[in-house]
Amino acid sequence: RTGARVERLPLSRFTTLGVGGEAEVWFVETHEQLQEAMAQPYRILGGGSNLVIADEGVPERVIRLSGPLAERDLTPDPHLSEDPWVVTGWVGGGVPLPGLIRQLQKLGLSGLEGTVGIPAQVGGAVWMNAGTRYGEMFDGLHTLEIVTPEGLRQVTPDDLNWGYRDSGIPRNHIVTRVRLKLRRAAPEEVLAKMDFADQARKGQPKMKTPGCAFKNPGGVSAGKLIDEAGLKGSRVGNALIAPEHANFIVNLGGATAADVHALLGLIRERVPVPMELEYELWP
Ligand code: FAD
Ligand code: EPU
Repeated sequence: RTGARVERLPLSRFTTLGVGGEAEVWFVETHEQLQEAMAQPYRILGGGSNLVIADEGVPERVIRLSGPLAERDLTPDPHLSEDPWVVTGWVGGGVPLPGLIRQLQKLGLSGLEGTVGIPAQVGGAVWMNAGTRYGEMFDGLHTLEIVTPEGLRQVTPDDLNWGYRDSGIPRNHIVTRVRLKLRRAAPEEVLAKMDFADQARKGQPKMKTPGCAFKNPGGVSAGKLIDEAGLKGSRVGNALIAPEHANFIVNLGGATAADVHALLGLIRERVPVPMELEYELWP
């Protein structure tokens, strides 16, 4: 054994929805520990901000990037940086995105501020190219380090077939670290862009939620479609379609995964346009 900490824990503790039964959680700090964890069926957990995890939990190992894999080196790499562009050192997949965005703003590094307010970890946000109308993760990536059961490789965004809410990286390929490519800018300029992007969240609910349930079909707001179907305020058990924004399901306290699944079923039944789920359902 290489010494990863392993504990059986309720996954509800790791999700923004606050739902999910138990699993064996592997806190991996090194590439060696990661290889060991990946020797049996596994799932990778980031900030848990896009997940609806079954009340029974999951049978696979659940990997959390910790320690050095959750650290950042934002020092410009002198060989790769060329004014006004800065290429940073490595940023771990386990780094919380909101703190990173604030730190980049203070350093006067621009490119990722459009992702303000996304409660992800860097690895999870990169894996699904999280973003808003004002920018997405692939706006600020230089190199990605990806670990698969076959080994480690480094790729650039050009090597991947990425798009809206999609990195093109296969499931269970783990984004362990990235280098960021950002532009030098005045911290006040970056802050102003962050504040502007944040305005778009004014109408989003403040309760426990995994974010938007469905991707916007063909650029139309899924929230608007669910709203037009008259579903705002629909409740099953302790899960509710938010009155503030219909593409958000919130946990009123004590909601179960089954409650959320029932609301997703209701939406699919009532909205006439086919919509692709944005959440990920475990299992
Ligand atoms: P998790 O939810 O933990 O996992 C999601 C997927 O990523 C899983 O398949 C998981 O296996 C995989 N994954 C996690 N870490 C890694 C890794 N290191 N390597 C490879 N795969 C990994 N999303 C947006 O795009 N835009 C928004 O504006 C937005 N707003 C939100 C607002 C709120 C209040 C909430 C709760 C969510 C919002 N989301 C938004 C959804 C969510 O934050 C994003 O989908 C985010 O990318 C999920 O990242 P995570 O680290 O939490 O991943
Ligand atoms: N609208 C309604 N009723 C609703 C919800 C929205 O009529 O219940 C209308 C709004 O009034 C507005 C339009 O639909 O005219 C668009 O709404 P909004 O500005 O909230 O944007 P969205 O397309 O619904 C997207 C992202 C969010 C992101 C915001 C802000 C998706 C699926 N959603 O929402 O991302 O935060 O823009 O940039 O792409 C997420 O992906 O999890 C997420 C929260």
